[in-house]
Amino acid sequence: MPESTADPILSLLADRIVNQKVVSFHGEPVPKDIKAHPKPIHLSVGTPHHGFFPINGVNLDITLEPFGETTETVKVNKVANDATKELDIKAAFQYGPTQGHPQLLNFTKELIAEVNPPKYKDWDVTCTNGTGDSFNKVFGVIVNPGDVVLMEAYTYLPVCNYITNHGGITVPVVMNHTSQENPGIDVDSLTELLENWETHHPQLRRPKALYTIPTGQNPTGLTISQFNRAAIYNLAKLHNFLIVEDDPYGYIQLNDRVLKEEITPYQYVNELLPSSYIQYDTTGHVIRLESFSKTFAPGTRLGFVVGSSKIIKHMVKFADITSRAPSGISQVVVNQFIQAVGGVEGWINWNINVSKEYARRNIVLIETLQKSEAFKKGYMKVIEPDAGMFAIVELNFPPNEQEDYRSELQQLRCRLLESGVVVTYGSNFGISEEYSKKAKFIRLTIAAADDSSEIEEGMKRLGEGILKHFEQ
Ligand SMILES: Cc1ncc(COP(=O)(O)O)c(C=O)c1O
Repeated sequence: MPESTADPILSLLADRIVNQKVVSFHGEPVPKDIKAHPKPIHLSVGTPHHGFFPINGVNLDITLEPFGETTETVKVNKVANDATKELDIKAAFQYGPTQGHPQLLNFTKELIAEVNPPKYKDWDVTCTNGTGDSFNKVFGVIVNPGDVVLMEAYTYLPVCNYITNHGGITVPVVMNHTSQENPGIDVDSLTELLENWETHHPQLRRPKALYTIPTGQNPTGLTISQFNRAAIYNLAKLHNFLIVEDDPYGYIQLNDRVLKEEITPYQYVNELLPSSYIQYDTTGHVIRLESFSKTFAPGTRLGFVVGSSKIIKHMVKFADITSRAPSGISQVVVNQFIQAVGGVEGWINWNINVSKEYARRNIVLIETLQKSEAFKKGYMKVIEPDAGMFAIVELNFPPNEQEDYRSELQQLRCRLLESGVVVTYGSNFGISEEYSKKAKFIRLTIAAADDSSEIEEGMKRLGEGILKHFEQ
């Protein structure tokens, strides 16, 4: 029998996903009265015995703070002593469950329950090959050709590819990207757009989802307020669309307190980390994406998705016919690090230590730019980020009639290349041509430099390049 599409959440699934059949070679269930042998010999599936694996053990030399020396060696055993938390070679190097190995999956659930608990019971998690892969799965299960996804006007543009790849259409939502005053999505404008959708977009269906980066937004580095999150969640409920919350930067807080105080994980979670949209969720309208890329390592290609089990179930099915399980080798490395540092609390501590380094770098970025002549002469405004690894600099270009600053940004690019600094340009983050044209900002990251002194030198070069651009 088809799943009921009267259910508001299920009604948001793509047609091809509802009751999708995944075939396998396991055959029909056997009659219930068959008394199976308690210890059968498995001659069934093609899982090589772990004796065939050429690795007997791995030593992970871990550090407890970024740029730290090795402080501890964590052994990955061929066979775990206690498999409740420990992931071993035998399991990790084997075919694994599509949702992720139970040890890591349980950690993600504990993390969510402690840091960002939804307000309803029937939520679930699935591990993925990083957020890029989560995009494919989330939009793969909800987007029919012609479906609409709302996006912040300036955003992490590659996400659009996953939406259009499934035939979806992206529509921009007005945001405040140039100040700390009420940053992020403009709630009044979103409300008006939704109330008058048919007038604004008579040829389009009503939106199925809103994609948003709520904390340390890419590209702006800004964080939307709790008040606005609550209001947007209410809109999602009222107009029945999903909020796809992409939060790879949420755990990196740049607040002074991380540098000035000895923050405990409890204080970090309760006093510094913003509450996810999912903490407002009573209905399953929020899908939260987390990634191990930014505070562990991007090469793990590991992330996870939290949401209503009604949606997660279909994402797991979708994974069965696309990526299958995330790499067990990545999972064992991440899991054994997390278990070695002490589970959820240790993971939060690691994130505090990561944040300390980012906060130090951020201060150098802001202060060096503010000392520059270009800043003092009013050629630029630095938008101070509060989380993550990006900051934007708004340039005070003279207004032009067409409101098109792309060639000015291109000229600035040449000056900055001459000055010896590479940045990213606002026009490359606009969700539509209109927003690309209007962008007058550049995006800087504090993530890639060797150290703070390299950031200082980069900011000096940036200041010089901007000065040259305005005065030549
Ligand atoms: C907002 C945002 N989402 C997702 C990603 C990609 O995450 P992952 O490495 O987990 O695929 C990035 C990477 O820069 C990002 O900025």
